[in-house]
Amino acid sequence: MQLHNLKDDSQKVSFVDAVKTGLGRNQGVFFPESLAPLADIDALLDMDFVSRSSKILSHLIGDELPADTVAQMVQNAFNFPVKLVEVEENIYCLELFHGPTLAFKDFGGRFMAECLAQFSQGEKTTILTATSGDTGAAVAHAFYNKPNIDVVILYPKGKISLAQQKLFTTLGNNIHCYAVDGSFDDCQAMVKNAFLDDEIKSRLGLNSANSINISRLVAQVCYYFEAIAQLPKEKRANAHISVPSGNFGNVCAAMIGAVIGLPVAKLSATTNQNDTVPRFIHDKNWAPNATIESLSNAMDVSKPNNWPRVQIMLDNNWFSYDDFYSTSVDESNTQTVMKKIQQTGYVAEPHTAIAYQGLKANLAQGAAGVFLATAHPAKFKDSVEEILNIELDMPKPLADALAKPCLAEDIADDYSVLRDILLAKLG
Ligand SMILES: Cc1ncc(COP(=O)(O)O)c(C=O)c1O
Repeated sequence: MQLHNLKDDSQKVSFVDAVKTGLGRNQGVFFPESLAPLADIDALLDMDFVSRSSKILSHLIGDELPADTVAQMVQNAFNFPVKLVEVEENIYCLELFHGPTLAFKDFGGRFMAECLAQFSQGEKTTILTATSGDTGAAVAHAFYNKPNIDVVILYPKGKISLAQQKLFTTLGNNIHCYAVDGSFDDCQAMVKNAFLDDEIKSRLGLNSANSINISRLVAQVCYYFEAIAQLPKEKRANAHISVPSGNFGNVCAAMIGAVIGLPVAKLSATTNQNDTVPRFIHDKNWAPNATIESLSNAMDVSKPNNWPRVQIMLDNNWFSYDDFYSTSVDESNTQTVMKKIQQTGYVAEPHTAIAYQGLKANLAQGAAGVFLATAHPAKFKDSVEEILNIELDMPKPLADALAKPCLAEDIADDYSVLRDILLAKLG
């Protein structure tokens, strides 16, 4: 896979280098220069999830990794199910929360860990990542106690749910967590600064596990094929998929899938009130506002890092602007929608509810729609229980994490503070 830096076209890298580097020069993200179509989609859809995912990832990565190596990596990473549940007639929920940290980030995080284990060959590596909620847990669990790898996680203090936080801040050992006095965008800015800092980069062997990292995105492509594979065959032709979007990595993966042959007619990227992209789609003016806190806190992002990747596919006409919908759902509507979904007998947390609403708002009559459940409702226990007036059972991994003490340190929103800590601890 040949990739280029979307901010500096002269920087070309292989898949292995893109995974190891994370972010390119001038803070540009890497993206494939071209995406070849997959052969025989029908046969592919008939395969089981792991075999199909190995084929898709081998196709995307190309000859940099032997097919049997990719197959082994996929088997290790994707060791939990993907479920498609019919919620209403023609409306399906793709449940992506059956992994160890109960969110879709387990797919990307675990595949990235497999990639780095392959590529780092025993070199010291520090994974530095900012999380708006679920990346932290997925990455922490994927790398926990892996030799020669340290993980540093920044999160916006008090702005993620307790369950999200406890799933990574309670691990210790090689997992180092910092609660930043700022927003997720501030955390992302600190990560970006670290990547521009040559001394930090080389002394720590820095790598990013954000959805910036291409290995995470390609892994996420696989479950979109699984969604279509699980739809009744007669409904596959005209499917519409709705993705709750914050940093726009997940919908980017869906679009990559569409470009290489996933039969999906329309895509919705639905945001909360942090609606930079919906406004941009409407008036073509990129005007991020200050980040606003919401019930769907993992999507409280006003400068989505992955948008340039989505935009290039749209601008190149690899996927049509006409088939791409981006609307936003405000706080009170999020609650109303959660209650509406509850009436169907299904329980959705706020991010999932936003995807449902984005689908309902844009779905053509008679078409099949799939909305993504990106997190287990129990990860947002407090808001779900209060809004829906129910009591949730705690899945065991969550109950265990909640009982442990938080090991994170508080830090100011100041890169020089983080820099000193990193050099003292890991440099
Ligand atoms: C539960 C949940 N839903 C949706 C999203 C948004 O995904 P993306 O940032 O890929 O747009 C996130 C991201 O952290 C998340 O944790």
